[in-house]
Amino acid sequence: MLELDIRGVSGSIIGEENGLNIQEEFEKYRTKIAEIITDLYKKKDTAGEGLQWMNLAYSQETSWYVKEYAALVENRFDNILILGIGGSALGGIAVTHALLHPYWNMLSKEERNGFPRIFFLDNIDPDQINGLLDILDLRKTLVNVITKSGDTTETMAQYMIIKDRLEKELDDDYRKNIIVTTDKKTGILRQISEQEGYKTFVVPDDIGGRFSVFTAVGLLPFTLVGINIDEIIDGLKDIDQALRNPDINENIAAQNALVHYLLDTKYGKNITVMMPYSDKLKYVADWFIQLWAESLGKSSTIDGNMIHTGPTPIKAIGATDQHSQMQLFNEGPNNKIINFIRVGEFDTTVEIPQIFQYTGIGYLGGKTMNDLMNAEADSTQASLIDYSRPTITIKMPKINGYYIAQLLYMLEMQTAIAGALYNVNTFNNPSVEQTRNYTYALMGRVGYEESANAIKDKILSV
Ligand code: PA5
Repeated sequence: MLELDIRGVSGSIIGEENGLNIQEEFEKYRTKIAEIITDLYKKKDTAGEGLQWMNLAYSQETSWYVKEYAALVENRFDNILILGIGGSALGGIAVTHALLHPYWNMLSKEERNGFPRIFFLDNIDPDQINGLLDILDLRKTLVNVITKSGDTTETMAQYMIIKDRLEKELDDDYRKNIIVTTDKKTGILRQISEQEGYKTFVVPDDIGGRFSVFTAVGLLPFTLVGINIDEIIDGLKDIDQALRNPDINENIAAQNALVHYLLDTKYGKNITVMMPYSDKLKYVADWFIQLWAESLGKSSTIDGNMIHTGPTPIKAIGATDQHSQMQLFNEGPNNKIINFIRVGEFDTTVEIPQIFQYTGIGYLGGKTMNDLMNAEADSTQASLIDYSRPTITIKMPKINGYYIAQLLYMLEMQTAIAGALYNVNTFNNPSVEQTRNYTYALMGRVGYEESANAIKDKILSV
């Protein structure tokens, strides 16, 4: 099971003025936390609460559909291309990067056991799009357009470009190369899919993009590249069972939510650093950044009081960032909580050969890169403790589908509990919508003329 070590936020380790009396705080918040957890589980089936992601471990339907489709298209495509942005892309990027070979797309088809390469287009940079089109044979590419709303500008623009190219290359057959993941009823893409006859998959109601990785948004691409989604679902079930426990002493998501909340509100530690000591987990940090920022960055409480709250998440990678951001983490403002993600056992081992006797490097010979990674994480934590900086460690026994599901789900629950502690609406994102609407206005979408007039004076680039 995934583990959490919060000893590094304890006042007895980093000093009373920076750290918490953990047992005392757990006691103080025992009832509140139990109420929050009970309430989340009570409301999870209620429409409009945004909590349907808490049921995904138990719904078999999506797994059946995606497996059935994957079997149907087996060996037909060399590439999968995902078009999507934000919550429609970040989970897929994080999990595929964690679970596939680090250089998956450069392996031969045999080395990939016949499974396709996978590409994510989650931006609109013209150079990136042209670059991708230079290398992709679209005729051998299955394009999965993912958008819950079905009208996100970036994704729809990408779709229009790719659809046009595909049609030119394949005539009427192009439809077989496009599949869509979107809302079951609403949105322009749903309408287009029906007209065009695309194969579609559903983003269920009451699951926001950033909580959607275990719907078809993630499970479909994972299955298409050969990731075992049963293992993912097993991990989800086990962690969900563990996180139902309303006792703060037993619930790691609640513990992590509470210590982040207290360190922010009591000591101003409002920057959450997500620092996996694994390159394979580096995009988990990006996924978490969206989850934490979009869920907790809110101007008002649920009761309408203006608060402008929310911790700022940032990404660091161990050991790389020890030679970059570490200087700031140690000696800059003491306003950060460093969250390590550590891996018990890497998939492989690399030995450092004993080829030099120089004292400066000879000590490395005979050790492994695995030893080195662990030593680097330990030494970073020790030096952060020297500077009285709070640290937390999430321990993943191995990087596999089972534990990656536990990690992501634990962070989702942590976010939901933190949202309740901050008393904000965790599941909306009005500012994302505002920018979305301004973009519609500037690009001339009918119905947004007023918005266009309203922002005219704020466009500083003209
Ligand atoms: O978390 C969210 O809801 C957002 O970040 C969305 O994922 C993002 O805006 C993309 O939206 P859509 O899936 O509708 O294209």
